[in-house]
Amino acid sequence: MSTSNKPGTTAGRIYALIGALMAALLIGVGAFIWLSGSTPAGVTVGGPFTLLSGDGHAVTDKDYRGKYMLVYFGYTFCPDVCPTTLAQVSEALEKLGPKAAKIQPLFISVDPKRDTAPVVKQFAAAFGPRVIGLTGSVEQIAAAAKAYRVYYAEHRTGPGPDDYSMDHSSILYLMGPDGRFIAPIRADMAADEMVATLARLVL
Ligand code: NI
Repeated sequence: MSTSNKPGTTAGRIYALIGALMAALLIGVGAFIWLSGSTPAGVTVGGPFTLLSGDGHAVTDKDYRGKYMLVYFGYTFCPDVCPTTLAQVSEALEKLGPKAAKIQPLFISVDPKRDTAPVVKQFAAAFGPRVIGLTGSVEQIAAAAKAYRVYYAEHRTGPGPDDYSMDHSSILYLMGPDGRFIAPIRADMAADEMVATLARLVL
């Protein structure tokens, strides 16, 4: 290690170290949630949100009390992961039987610029009648994503205003009828595995 005392260099190193530590902490928390299906003490997943329905009405998390929410964050222009995930969710619920009526899949856009209310409505409808698409203002989306510890970021693909994709974490969050976090569900599960998982977790 160098013993240089140049302030800029030292400050730069300290910031880099802090950045690395924070990244490690975030990854650690994510891995813990992932592996254990629960959260470390004091860490909450989910919480109140206010968003916009496909019909342009304000909705909050409280509108879904009494149902299990299966929450997924993504965007309608997603070329692969989001449509695949929602197709598996839809198929899983079709196969699940009566318990499916207790589950409300929610697709929450992380791309409010392009995903207007009519756009998310049409997108969700492509996966059958069960999936509800939600969007909101930039601030509402940011607040909901923060509550669910969802990462998302614009990824430029060209110079035009629509030349971007969204990087985003891809996890389904199963929330209880009281709104509390129950378990993460892998978004890459095939429908049959998802059926088995939901059958076990939904009472
Ligand atoms: Ni996606």
